[in-house]
Amino acid sequence: MKTRIAVLVSGGGTNLQALIDAEKRGELPDGEIVLVVSNNPDAYALTRARKAGIETAVCVKPGMEGKLIEALRAHDIEMIILAGFMAILSKNFVSLYPDRIINIHPSLIPSFCGEGFYGLHVHEAALKYGVKVTGATVHYVNEIPDGGRIICQKAVEIREDDTPETLQRRVMEQAEWILLPRAAQTVANRIRMEKEQ
Ligand code: GAR
Repeated sequence: MKTRIAVLVSGGGTNLQALIDAEKRGELPDGEIVLVVSNNPDAYALTRARKAGIETAVCVKPGMEGKLIEALRAHDIEMIILAGFMAILSKNFVSLYPDRIINIHPSLIPSFCGEGFYGLHVHEAALKYGVKVTGATVHYVNEIPDGGRIICQKAVEIREDDTPETLQRRVMEQAEWILLPRAAQTVANRIRMEKEQ
């Protein structure tokens, strides 16, 4: 049985799209995206999920985590992918899915990560510091924001004339959309093997 995956989103959902496209191409053979959950009812990612025929749920504050747990249980979710999910999950929540939640972060962790570093802010910080190389990281999620074990990383060159927007786009194209589906398959495969033992 394939690993049942939920993808958590908050915004545009280009990383979700990369996952959907990879699954369609047969590059996620050990996993199946069965649910997309957003903490933002207006997220375009929800439209992407609906277009792909994937069930969606919206879980907003207050009580966001309780609603999220309900939705995940209702769909027998075994693995969670944070793909541009802009809320920090509690220690309690994370302990329910040990080594079964992964996150994509748009920098080379441990640079430009942790609380306050999300979305465009990460690229603004990299440009302000003046680093010449940045990238993306996929890691397991634990109780420390962006602090879990690293699964994979990819470096991306920074150009003299970069703006946060041009840099964000290049990091997505050259790193995020490639790394996330690969990491998803690796983890979905491990979970499937564990189940079948
Ligand atoms: C992506 O760059 C993702 O790495 C980042 O937000 C963007 C979401 O874009 N995530 C974080 O900063 C998490 N700390 P998307 O909605 O188009 O995938």
